[in-house]
Amino acid sequence: MNKAEVFDTIVNERRSIRVYKNDIPVTDEVMKRSLERTILSPNSSNMQLWEFIDIKDKQTKEKVSEYCLGQSTATTAQRFLVIVARPDRYKKSIEHNLQNVNDPNSFEKEKSRKRRRQYYGKIMPLFYAPDPLRVLSLIKKSIVFFTGLKSPTVREVSEHSKKVSIHKSLGIAAQTFMLSMTSEGFDTCPMEGFDSKRMKKLLNLNSSAEINMVISIGKRDEGGVFYPRVRYPFDEVVRTI
Ligand SMILES: Cc1cc2nc3c(=O)[nH]c(=O)nc-3n(C[C@H](O)[C@H](O)[C@H](O)COP(=O)(O)O)c2cc1C
Repeated sequence: MNKAEVFDTIVNERRSIRVYKNDIPVTDEVMKRSLERTILSPNSSNMQLWEFIDIKDKQTKEKVSEYCLGQSTATTAQRFLVIVARPDRYKKSIEHNLQNVNDPNSFEKEKSRKRRRQYYGKIMPLFYAPDPLRVLSLIKKSIVFFTGLKSPTVREVSEHSKKVSIHKSLGIAAQTFMLSMTSEGFDTCPMEGFDSKRMKKLLNLNSSAEINMVISIGKRDEGGVFYPRVRYPFDEVVRTI
């Protein structure tokens, strides 16, 4: 099989699985390989404002499945991955990126280094600055409104946009993880049906953290696929211009 055929197999094989076999554990090695692939996912400005919590402890799994409202995909799961947005880590991420920009051994051209120093030194601190009262958002939106009158400008600068931006990257990471698990011979189901308040407390997450998704993991049991995979016709959702 060529690469496209392999990828096609993986994409077609992945389904949301609602019942897993109870005697096939997900090994640490499989999890590690998949998480190593997951953190290579594209993410906004390479800020990596994410945390991946791998849950294999029996008691914690029981709590997680309770907080996933007892859904069968959760009660039968062998393991869970919880994907968490961590906006509070933005200063560390800026530092990390600036260190990479300044790495003398990198192949990066000086022109690009200069641009990225400016980006991480000035724009990112402004974009990610906490803004609980939304005052900064208002100022930023006014600025982009006026600069946007003259030239193309990124309009998404509010506190809300910041969250959307982080969660976009997390969704992509979730898909990398799920496709990786399929390639390893395991199955998954992404979930947003859970009690986020209880889950955050269980996982000891701070108030600014947001759970993007809980992914159940295991080996599909017979009857684990509940219904056929049906999508809108291609031409209804794809527009070529
Ligand atoms: C963001 C998101 C949240 C989801 N939440 C749940 C959930 O809580 N419980 C569940 O059984 N499936 C959940 N799903 C799975 C979808 O129902 C499933 O992906 C969709 O029906 C398409 O089926 P497929 O994944 O088998 O192709 C979720 C999927 C996504 C992307």
